[in-house]
Amino acid sequence: MTKNKNIVIAIDGPAGSGKSSVAREVAKRMGLQYIDSGALYRAITLYVLEKSGESFTPEDVCRYLNTIHLEQVFNADGSCTTICNGIDVSEKIRSETIASHIGKISDIVEVRHFVNARMREWARDHSIIVDGRDIGTVVFPDAIIKIYLDASVDERAKRRALEYSLKGKDVDRDELKTQIRLRDEQDMKREFGALKKSDDAIYLDTSNITQNEVVQSIYSLINTKIQYC
Ligand code: DC
Repeated sequence: MTKNKNIVIAIDGPAGSGKSSVAREVAKRMGLQYIDSGALYRAITLYVLEKSGESFTPEDVCRYLNTIHLEQVFNADGSCTTICNGIDVSEKIRSETIASHIGKISDIVEVRHFVNARMREWARDHSIIVDGRDIGTVVFPDAIIKIYLDASVDERAKRRALEYSLKGKDVDRDELKTQIRLRDEQDMKREFGALKKSDDAIYLDTSNITQNEVVQSIYSLINTKIQYC
């Protein structure tokens, strides 16, 4: 990306803040590889549930890590394929069952080290844009640009409701708000890799701006920064 080295752009923020849509769009425009860190935690959760059912222990999970190989492919159409041991799990990892168990998996420090090591390996070979919760604070503290995307709970619930309705599902907005608050709390209170704005991250509240505007701001920030690298 710059003359001699690959760059890392970190996008953190709570669920529904628009991280993944924005990161994918910036990646497409700038020819970066996009990494969806949440999808990696989801893929491990799926693997554990398929092996152990719902009664897994942290020891089971740590043992399984030796048998999991994760890959991610960023496609030309802006989608991202997550592959676990050769199997495309991109659709399966989006289920409610995964969402309800992922907290127990992503809290395990060995799982976090595993995911972080994989992402750092990818960063050696490519310029990347990564979204998650702890990318700018823990995984890539030297990222060239760090963005913290946020939005009000009301706005995030509205976006989620729209996503569900596009899939033909009718969901209660208040129920969604409760789920979002719960997830925020879980993500922020995690002992390792908690959701937190890095001191040097740029804070963008996306509640009242369009996705295009957010993409444009990040795009300009990157271009300005790259000129000085
Ligand atoms: O981004 P997402 O909603 O697909 O992430 C799923 C879960 O994974 C989320 O509840 C928190 C966890 N996660 C994490 O702990 N650290 C990350 N860097 C990304 C996601």
